[in-house]
Amino acid sequence: MNFRNIISVDELSQSDVRRLFYAARSPHTLPKLNSAVLMTAFFENSTRTRLSFEMAAHRLGMRVVSFHTSSSSMSKGEREKETLDNLFALSPDIAVVRMGCNFDRAWLPTHTAVINGGDGIHEHPSQALLDSFTLLEHFKSDDLSGRTVLIIGDVVHSRVAHSNIKLMTRLGARVIILAPPIFSETLALGQTRMIRSFDELDEQVDAVMCLRMQKERMEKTLISDQEFSRQFAMTTNRFKSFGSQCVVMHPGPMNLGVEIDEAVAYHERSLILSQVRNGVVIRSAMMAHCLGALS
Ligand code: CP
Repeated sequence: MNFRNIISVDELSQSDVRRLFYAARSPHTLPKLNSAVLMTAFFENSTRTRLSFEMAAHRLGMRVVSFHTSSSSMSKGEREKETLDNLFALSPDIAVVRMGCNFDRAWLPTHTAVINGGDGIHEHPSQALLDSFTLLEHFKSDDLSGRTVLIIGDVVHSRVAHSNIKLMTRLGARVIILAPPIFSETLALGQTRMIRSFDELDEQVDAVMCLRMQKERMEKTLISDQEFSRQFAMTTNRFKSFGSQCVVMHPGPMNLGVEIDEAVAYHERSLILSQVRNGVVIRSAMMAHCLGALS
């Protein structure tokens, strides 16, 4: 079988991205993948990514097997890498893998398509695709040119931000990052602009994306919740100051009252649950693409 992996958004050409968005807009036209087996192998917890891949697989008529670390033989001392080798040896047609470390392409099997479900601080390509798809749907547009997206918070540890910066920029958006040096100093910025406080913002923003602090990737506390919130939280007043054209996004999981206020998360201009909803159609299209079934 011809198959493709998606470990990074870099592997997707501009026409691949267009085809994925086109297919996600008309999920009923996607081919049924009735004989295919999806394995979800998440070595880190997940609510949205794992379940939306599994939902997508069921919608496509696929069969699903799920690996859970808590009930696996990792409790007997088997390491992640050996566990992954064994999961790939079971030969699913496609595997969605989430790992705490960055994915090493040398681990890729020759007989199974692999989608990165989020690896370490590297990338989260399905999240970036569904985020841009959600913005395009909101703006009723085919690209993000002329749009400015402000990404706020712990960008350096965020695989979501890394994939989003690349993809949104490729789709024409201007990306601004608002983060303290502790969450941005090692970042390769590309075409993005970096600011350190809301006061520095002197241009109209069309979408803000709030990020949680990725505490599981820090050896010690870098900033308290209270201080982070004081400087960077998307409060009701701050959101109001962006104007009525601005929407708010969050990849989840959210820490309400830390990086985003509950009233903003559930505001009528919040796209957060649209992001989750769109996760199913984007991930359906991704699996069809990886299995060579997308025309
Ligand atoms: N955005 C995201 O990856 O959410 P989950 O950790 O719930 O999958």
